[in-house]
Amino acid sequence: MQIFHTIKGLREALIQARQKGLRIGFVPTMGNLHQAHIELIKRAQQTSDVVVCSIFVNGLQFGLNEDWDKYPRTFDADCAKLRDAGCDMLFHPDDNEMYPNGLDSQTRVICSTMTDVLCGASRPGHFEGVTTVVTKLFNIVQPDEAIFGIKDYQQLAVIRRMVEDLCVPIDIIEAPIHREPDGLAMSSRNGYITAEERPKANQLHQSLNWIAEQIKSGKRDFLALEAKAKQQIEAAGFKTDYITVCNSKTLEMAAVDDKHITVLGAMYTESARLIDNVSLS
Ligand code: PAF
Repeated sequence: MQIFHTIKGLREALIQARQKGLRIGFVPTMGNLHQAHIELIKRAQQTSDVVVCSIFVNGLQFGLNEDWDKYPRTFDADCAKLRDAGCDMLFHPDDNEMYPNGLDSQTRVICSTMTDVLCGASRPGHFEGVTTVVTKLFNIVQPDEAIFGIKDYQQLAVIRRMVEDLCVPIDIIEAPIHREPDGLAMSSRNGYITAEERPKANQLHQSLNWIAEQIKSGKRDFLALEAKAKQQIEAAGFKTDYITVCNSKTLEMAAVDDKHITVLGAMYTESARLIDNVSLS
């Protein structure tokens, strides 16, 4: 695997790949890689000739009181996993390479819908940071396709919308949620969950599934289902951020006759904020 720390170095290598007519797949990450990331690499390998992964802990998408400084940086272990998975190129820039003019004066990409609800309501500015860095990464790598995990459902929806609105010529491919045996969605932030909390940390998954089952069995009082799911989460000792039954495309609260519904949720453990979702058609 070739490793690049500069935009120039990566671009030169990619020019050669492009001249050979190779299809380039891209998996953006913030590192601390786990099996779900490796599944994204494998998905990219199915439809691309050259797979590029990026590792960059993007300060622009973290709020002031969030975990940017303690976000795990595990570069050597990440490289070993990517090599094992057969990733071709890794882009690992530092802050100065990505934001040479500083964060405050960075030109931003703002998606005007879907970004101030759900995770965006509790993390103001988060999606602006995501769409800005993803646009920069897309311009640096210029891939044919980019793979995103559906665990970050809102992020995927926002990126799809941005790509559509700005006519970005990249296929956005979604990859399924990868779960631990008890259903907990894999996440880099699962490392924050304490041993005491861990046996119950799949409660979010269980409560979202419970809502999905209720809807499938004909229940349509979404607010009542959300309220009951919140009680379940709090009874397990966690704090709910939100549980919302949404229209899968717009992320607005679902209407009773919506055909495509996604139930999204976020909850806090003592030191982790976990998100998950389940879709019904
Ligand atoms: O999902 C992530 O890991 C990040 O939000 C992303 C897409 C790499 C942008 O920093």
